[in-house]
Amino acid sequence: MLADILDLLADPNGEPLEFSEKGLHAHGRTYPIADAGYAIFLLEDTSEETSQGDDPAMLHAREAFLSRGHFAPFVEEVSAAVHDAIDEAGIPEEDTPVICEIGAGTGYYLAHNLDEVYGAIGIGIDISSAAAEHLASCHPRVGAVVADARQRLPLHDGVVDALTVIFSPHNAAECARVLAPTGQLIVLLPEPGHLKELRQPLGIRDVEPGGVAEFREQAAEAGLVFAAEPRTIEFSMRLDRESIKAQIGMSPSARDIPEDELAERAAQLPPAMTVSAKASLLRFRKS
Ligand SMILES: C[S@@+](CC[C@H](N)C(=O)[O-])C[C@H]1O[C@@H](n2cnc3c(N)ncnc32)[C@H](O)[C@@H]1O
Repeated sequence: MLADILDLLADPNGEPLEFSEKGLHAHGRTYPIADAGYAIFLLEDTSEETSQGDDPAMLHAREAFLSRGHFAPFVEEVSAAVHDAIDEAGIPEEDTPVICEIGAGTGYYLAHNLDEVYGAIGIGIDISSAAAEHLASCHPRVGAVVADARQRLPLHDGVVDALTVIFSPHNAAECARVLAPTGQLIVLLPEPGHLKELRQPLGIRDVEPGGVAEFREQAAEAGLVFAAEPRTIEFSMRLDRESIKAQIGMSPSARDIPEDELAERAAQLPPAMTVSAKASLLRFRKS
């Protein structure tokens, strides 16, 4: 619920916001609240159309794929890391832990994380209003906002106890700013080899090497250090054609390849395939 996270939200100048039926207000500016209950913080120079936000079809494909449990090992590892981060923060019992995800998509990971941490509240941030619509109803303890991860986040300094970035755009300096002094940032980044069996037959993008080293460098510049040893999570999935189509439909390749072309290539695949999943899990805290 948006009302539950109102005290954590700030306008782009870091000012508190006031609530009315028309939206959230600060300094004579109004940030609208959509009927679905999420607040919209896009700046004038950010257009949802030109950004890389997921459209409704991609969200639908993501939901179809994730609901089949194919990424369960990823969600289990992320939830365990969030649980550990909250434990290590030593938050007093009377306080409410805050869990936030940037680029949260359908809210699949955020909802699992909230189930793991009794009483925590969640903030789901995404640049896509289609995603925010999913986020607003993904869990009773989530408030959703539309905002650009590359710009200043619409949050006060130091309010998030566990911040997650899962296969999404990130800005390490902003992550560090919004983290509480004992908070942790948990990042899941795809590794080369992720979905490797699908790359050639479908002609889809490969994962660029060096993503982990690059993020580690940005995190260090933002004053973040490892809170735990990085871990590689690797497993095999048995995917039928429907799941493969959903996986491709939710990936950046969905923007590169026309839908009918993709369907034609997918039709050439065997009825089911064993496909590798591989990602790095990184945990940071403030130095
Ligand atoms: C690969 S999806 C990951 C979604 C979710 N974390 C998951 O793993 O299910 C990337 C998400 O980031 C969002 N996104 C893309 N660019 C963004 C930006 N600049 N700021 C915030 N979100 C963004 C997309 O709309 C999409 O929901």
